[in-house]
Amino acid sequence: MLKAAVVGVGSMGRNHARVYREMEGSVELVGVADANAGEAAKVGARTGAAHFSNYHEMIDKVKPDLISLAVPTALHAQIGLELIERGINLLIEKPIATTLEEGEALIEAARKAGVVLQVGHIERFNPVVMEMKRRLLDGMAGRIYKVQTQRLSPYPGRIQDAGAVTDLATHDIDLLRNLMNDQISRLYGEILHTINRDREDGLNGILRFRSGIIGVLDVNWITPAKVRRITITGARGMLRCDLLSQELYFYENETAPSQWDTLSVLRGVSEGNVIGFRINRHEPLAAELADFAETVRTGRKPTVSGEDGLETLRIAREFILSAEQRRVIDYERQPELA
Ligand SMILES: NC(=O)c1ccc[n+]([C@@H]2O[C@H](COP(=O)([O-])OP(=O)(O)OC[C@H]3O[C@@H](n4cnc5c(N)ncnc54)[C@H](O)[C@@H]3O)[C@@H](O)[C@H]2O)c1
Repeated sequence: MLKAAVVGVGSMGRNHARVYREMEGSVELVGVADANAGEAAKVGARTGAAHFSNYHEMIDKVKPDLISLAVPTALHAQIGLELIERGINLLIEKPIATTLEEGEALIEAARKAGVVLQVGHIERFNPVVMEMKRRLLDGMAGRIYKVQTQRLSPYPGRIQDAGAVTDLATHDIDLLRNLMNDQISRLYGEILHTINRDREDGLNGILRFRSGIIGVLDVNWITPAKVRRITITGARGMLRCDLLSQELYFYENETAPSQWDTLSVLRGVSEGNVIGFRINRHEPLAAELADFAETVRTGRKPTVSGEDGLETLRIAREFILSAEQRRVIDYERQPELA
């Protein structure tokens, strides 16, 4: 039985506490800590875990094997480093940190301490994304030309320490990297400033992978509706999923290249059958925390490592740089950037 605790039980952390509480048999939720003592007490009462306003005191008392860190992003590095130095396996909410230097320090500290560092890129554990990836690897869509993500939201007033690129687009950057399993060769971003001057409210980003696949990101928090979608277009058709309703469809290209045509040369596109897939729905956070516990138990490489989190943050920062400097960031022409 692993002993789990949560530091920061605000809107995300309280879900970590609930899910650990529900993982009966393999993980025991032993403590929750929040600088807001009232919040800690509320979540403690709901889950039956001991509650604290000081996480050092919590660690001394309940001695957890693993912690979910869900404090505001600006505090990830400072508190994360303290927890790692105390020898605790850590799942740090996304994004890994605010700056690349902080992300690097977390990775180095975890390596030295010999503890697990996993980053909370939760969409990888969304069952509809997992099914989409399976279909993609099976070659259902044929040769892939383009992948597009949409993540549109109303404005989250509580977030004060991150812009929409680091807070929201990091989900999609991690998804693109994972689904395409390829390196980015160049990227360009346009940033929206509507509500905030000092941080981004949205990103329209375009990138090219080394394989030639084009990636398009449409992300903002100025939309009065929540949209979460991935669309992948290939020679044999289009795979499209909704991350909220966990639905996945395949739109067949009736003029698809034959399966014997290894180059999958596109001779035309016409509407064919539309197939909806059955998804074994589950809560992504439950799968993520079960995966984290398994990593701690077995010592295997984390599904979403500190290095993954850092690379995603690096690409996010480069979208911002590209927009600020009005230029394409081209890793092939400037390999020192890669
Ligand atoms: N994976 C996801 O889908 C997802 C969703 C939402 C938020 N997040 C991430 O989770 C993190 C928290 O976001 P949130 O929306 O829950 O924020 P929030 O403001 O609702 O909660 C943060 C909590 O941390 C507490 N806190 C602040 N300083 C502390 C300290 N020194 N010690 C202990 N507790 C402290 C606050 O009192 C608050 O309760 C952010 O990094 C965010 O990016 C991830």
